[in-house]
Amino acid sequence: MALLKLLRRWWSLRDPEIRWIVEVGVDEVPEEAEPVPERMQPPYSFVSRYVNETSYLLDDPDILLTVFRSAEERREERLRLHGLPGEVKLLVSRPELARAPHLVVIEGERLAAWLLVYYGVIVAARLDEAGVGSSYGLQAIRWLDEWSGEFHAVYIRLRSRLYRWGPEFSVYIRGIDNQHRYLVVTLNNLYRHLLAGSPRRVLDDTLDALADYTKFHFRSEERLFDRYGYPRAEAHRRQHRLFVDKVADFMEKYKANEQRLTLEVLHFLADWVRNHILTSDHDFGEWFYQHGVPIIDERLARESREARKRLGLD
Ligand SMILES: [Fe+2]
Ligand SMILES: [Fe+2]
Repeated sequence: MALLKLLRRWWSLRDPEIRWIVEVGVDEVPEEAEPVPERMQPPYSFVSRYVNETSYLLDDPDILLTVFRSAEERREERLRLHGLPGEVKLLVSRPELARAPHLVVIEGERLAAWLLVYYGVIVAARLDEAGVGSSYGLQAIRWLDEWSGEFHAVYIRLRSRLYRWGPEFSVYIRGIDNQHRYLVVTLNNLYRHLLAGSPRRVLDDTLDALADYTKFHFRSEERLFDRYGYPRAEAHRRQHRLFVDKVADFMEKYKANEQRLTLEVLHFLADWVRNHILTSDHDFGEWFYQHGVPIIDERLARESREARKRLGLD
């Protein structure tokens, strides 16, 4: 019986392209990025040198809603500022802000300030003053330094990655799992670069890699659908096409500077990828399994089914 299985698998994988998709899937899974923000010269060495470019991240009326999706923990306190230069520096040099990305929201009677702090460095700043308007970047930090009074401060700790690849994501085919890992790592890298205020060229390269890789990955899955006669291939292809079109549309506007890369855009991409893997991709993995398609890895299937049960996904 085991020999027959092995023979069927060997027969099934005699096409070198299919064999590569099933067993390897990806040349190399990228490393997780650990970006370090580039700092300004003293006295502003606690501020990213791209703060003026990056502060658009806080220019979003729904920023709190978006940020709360990345929030892991929040802490509130009363805060007294004295209008002394260097107070903002003191504020962000607290040990907990050096350990994880944070959004710090400071609210007073006539003022609200938002600081995105990536491991102790302010990468984005916004200050809203009643009756005056909003300022961004270094200007916002300077003005906040001059304010005095009682404030309410909220420290929101943000997650350091969007999510991790786990066995519940497995579609029981090693090569396709490797490709999904690639997508998850690249999305997380984009998230970290965004939070770290990395320069535009880094964001561009990571976005390009993501867009190209997605197309390649979809082709790989569709090759398997054709090869093994998956019955819901057309509907699945349509989902792929819709996503590719949406990303292409975004990329066009992004490159023409008509649209920004925001946390909201990133959450949309990441949610789509996660939901698609956990539902539609899972569906073809399960169908292949049920129909004895010989490219299935039994051990991956077992581990994935257990994980999905544990997480209440099935
Ligand atoms: Fe997929
Ligand atoms: Fe898919």
